[in-house]
Amino acid sequence: MAVDLTSYEEFALITLNRPEALNALSFRIIGEIGDAIDAATVTDARAILFTGAGDKAFCAGADIKELRNRPLTDQRQGSELGQAVFSKLDTAPIPSVALINGYAFGGGLELALACTFRLASPNAKVGLPEIKLGLIPGYGGTQRLPRLIGEARALEMIMTGRTVDAEEAERVGLVHGVVDGDLLEEGVTFTRRVTRFSLPALQFARDAVRRATGISLTEGLKVEADLSTLAYRTADAEEGMAAFEEKRKPDFKDA
Ligand code: CAA
Repeated sequence: MAVDLTSYEEFALITLNRPEALNALSFRIIGEIGDAIDAATVTDARAILFTGAGDKAFCAGADIKELRNRPLTDQRQGSELGQAVFSKLDTAPIPSVALINGYAFGGGLELALACTFRLASPNAKVGLPEIKLGLIPGYGGTQRLPRLIGEARALEMIMTGRTVDAEEAERVGLVHGVVDGDLLEEGVTFTRRVTRFSLPALQFARDAVRRATGISLTEGLKVEADLSTLAYRTADAEEGMAAFEEKRKPDFKDA
């Protein structure tokens, strides 16, 4: 297996484990990532963390050697497979965090973009260099990057294929932070901050914010009214409000 699923503290840890090729994404590996996501979401993990094996790369993108000399139908299916696998993270019941421990290029950055959050090590280098191969991103990069950092910055990154360092990635909002110490340990600390409340409420919040892009404000407000009403119906909402009145810490049961 080139994708390892383990548990780490209260989280699922998915490690891309093909360091000799900088964790490049063969189609088999993409399938394994999908299986690992499915498996992680039926455990009691509170979030999925992604990292890359070795000290150089999170993931250097699609396996370029595998991409050559393929029928167009295979190419199209490959793009749809990568998109579908990474999109599992949008609808997963738990959030995901990419721990970008080195290079994250092409499909590797696209995996990170599909995660709910991204943290980077100081040596991280990210980019969508497909244009240098005569290609364009095919696993969601042209759609998720502009939503994250705006159309102008995304166009510039995609049309130059340039490499962005960790400091710039943080400044433009591409990553949520640059971590000086142990990325996995700091990742755990960060992830606890965004998973310590009621899981259903956290999921409603993610869903509402995710759906904000691409619909009108009027429609978005209706989505918010629906989801906030669903959150209100949970036992955890009752517990949270009772705990406030009783001046104690809430004891959420994720229900
Ligand atoms: N696919 C296949 N193999 C890759 C790879 C990739 N994307 N990236 C690196 N490798 C392999 C190299 O071929 C090399 O293998 P060999 O030792 O057998 O030659 C090994 O990993 C180590 O790589 P380098 O020697 O190149 O390492 P480096 O430190 O000198 O450079 C790098 C690192 C700058 C990341 C460079 O490897 C590189 O530019 N990689 C390609 C990055 C890229 O273009 N990614 C986009 C892919 S296309 C895509 O992702 C499409 C999409 O949207 C889905």
